[in-house]
Amino acid sequence: MQESAPLQQELERLRREIHYHNYRYHVLDAPLISDAEYDRLMERLKAIEADHPEWITPDSPTQRAGSAPLDRFVKVRHPAPILSLANAFDANGVRAWMERIIKVDERARTANFVVEPKIDGLTVVLTYRNGVFVQGATRGDGEVGEDITANLRTVKALPLRIPVNSDGPRVPDDFVVRGEAFITLQDFDALNRRLQDAGEKTYLNPRNTAAGSLRQLDPALTASRPLTLYVYQIVAADGPTPATQWELLQYLKALGFPVAGEISLQPDLEAAIAACQAIGEKRDTLAYEVDGTVIKINDLNLAAELGFVGKDPRGAIAFKFPAREVTTRLNGIGVNVGRTGVLTPYAILEPVEIGGVVVKQATLHNFDYIAEKDIRVGDRVMLKRAGDVIPYVIGPVTDARTGQEWPYQPPETCPACDQPVEHFEGEVAWYCVNAACPAQLVRNLEHFVSRGAMNIDGMGIKIVEQLAREGLVRDVADIYTLRRDDLLKLEGFAVKKVDNLLQAIENSRQQPLARLINALGIRGVGEVMAADLTAHYSDLDSLGRASADELQQIEGVGPNIAAAIVDWFAREQNQRLLAKLKAAGVWPSVAASAAASAGSQPLKNLVFVVTGMLPGFSRDGIKEYIQANGGKVTDSVSKKTSYLVVGEAPGSKLEKARELGVPILDEAALRKLVEG
Ligand code: IVH
Repeated sequence: MQESAPLQQELERLRREIHYHNYRYHVLDAPLISDAEYDRLMERLKAIEADHPEWITPDSPTQRAGSAPLDRFVKVRHPAPILSLANAFDANGVRAWMERIIKVDERARTANFVVEPKIDGLTVVLTYRNGVFVQGATRGDGEVGEDITANLRTVKALPLRIPVNSDGPRVPDDFVVRGEAFITLQDFDALNRRLQDAGEKTYLNPRNTAAGSLRQLDPALTASRPLTLYVYQIVAADGPTPATQWELLQYLKALGFPVAGEISLQPDLEAAIAACQAIGEKRDTLAYEVDGTVIKINDLNLAAELGFVGKDPRGAIAFKFPAREVTTRLNGIGVNVGRTGVLTPYAILEPVEIGGVVVKQATLHNFDYIAEKDIRVGDRVMLKRAGDVIPYVIGPVTDARTGQEWPYQPPETCPACDQPVEHFEGEVAWYCVNAACPAQLVRNLEHFVSRGAMNIDGMGIKIVEQLAREGLVRDVADIYTLRRDDLLKLEGFAVKKVDNLLQAIENSRQQPLARLINALGIRGVGEVMAADLTAHYSDLDSLGRASADELQQIEGVGPNIAAAIVDWFAREQNQRLLAKLKAAGVWPSVAASAAASAGSQPLKNLVFVVTGMLPGFSRDGIKEYIQANGGKVTDSVSKKTSYLVVGEAPGSKLEKARELGVPILDEAALRKLVEG
């Protein structure tokens, strides 16, 4: 066994190096060597261990791969209770906490605080003996948890030995830390995409995935999940540890543990509250899901002396953010008919509060989505409402099924007009193609009169609905034959209102051809496409005569749009509509519209990002407006962004733009930029 000494030294050196490079990669996100070099070190270590299995220790980097499945989890008692936190839901709740603790100990009045993100993951308790990771457990009831050591060993950010750096601080022989295991949003999305591509079931959210991955019996499966970790507390140690939370976090970092980047030390409570709010505002841009922040009294002795209320230490409080995900019962599935006849299923929900509003309905995207996610009526479903996203159903909570749920059958006829629905090649959507469908009429009218189309001022959704309901308009052409007398009979229509409306209708007759084409609402033909078409067709007669092949010669017109245009003109109702428009004198030709459409491109070379809802545009409309004027629209704010266009309820893009110093425009300022 004389030769084994140098080999054992090499083995030890390899392990040290691999641990270090692993730390650089998974904790610091700053690798020093390439993946190939890392693999080479690992291969060499594996080769030595294969020859000398007796040398394999649990803290060897090779032991992360995932050992044999367990048949059950063993219970483990924590060395000290794993406590929870009291909650506050706003700044006043935090101030009330402060008042309570000042009554217990006056010193709290002058305390400083550490603010940390409250990561939405699974609490883990990690035990190190002589610097080696020997046990990992779940929180359980706070006294006794489950031994998930084998699973946790697969988490690459978890140091198997501390300190990771040989020149790191000394660590007590018995050392127990607490942290949160989680999955980043990016890794979660990638995982779900992979599962979806493989035809497997996707996960609902990062938290459930992290918890499920750690609390299952096969470590090899855990190893395939992109789990990571942040630590924030020392639960027990048989030697000296830092006296303040801030120093403690720095100490844990120096040992090689991953610590959240969003931590800060604040001089007083108001500053701490502001720091929490700042994290709240950044919530959408963080790499991981947070459900709040935690404010901790920095002085750990004072915090300990403050004691507990039940299981909650007085020395810290959770500042919770509004929930963005809730579960509720799916009572039914309804179907909306859009302007273009597209049928969109929506969830009819047991009303539930989320992010401060009561939600009764949520989108289900399309019928394929319902089938893919296996969403059944009667299911308990997970609902999400984040940032400026409208509420949507993420999927069913299958564990909550009782057998009383039933699969959903998409309708074969339009729920509004009972005509058979149709499906177009290459699209997931189902359509009602009946132009006289009453559900479509209102939406068609709404689009026809909108700013990017015929721009009939004062004709909002209420009036459109009223006109349709009273039978005064049965298609968009009827707008031009509305009579003053009829309008005056309507509820809420005074002389002035009627005259203004009629004047606005009159003015709209002058709109150029491109706007009229857009106003017709042909599937796939928006403002930009409409303008492109007017470069080739001088009026609706010539466009209506175009064949699909001919249309496809135009840049940007693919087979689907070409087919949609031909199909639109081939329909009898639409031909009737065109005849009515012509008879009403609403028949612009390109000579008249050339000036408008071939105008200058005031937004040329400018890059725009849009956030929030603008009063005068739909989401697509604003995009088309910018593009039609020569600008470019991108999704995220960067240094290359020329302007951020901001509407109501802007998202995190606004914050980002401010950070980068990107100029901000509202709708009026944008229009000014275009109109000069
Ligand atoms: S401190 C006595 N800090 O939030 C210490 N908790 O409701 C109590 N959590 O179960 C916990 N991030 O799982 C603390 N930076 C953080 C946290 C954090 C997430 C979780 C933890 C706990 C829950 C408290």
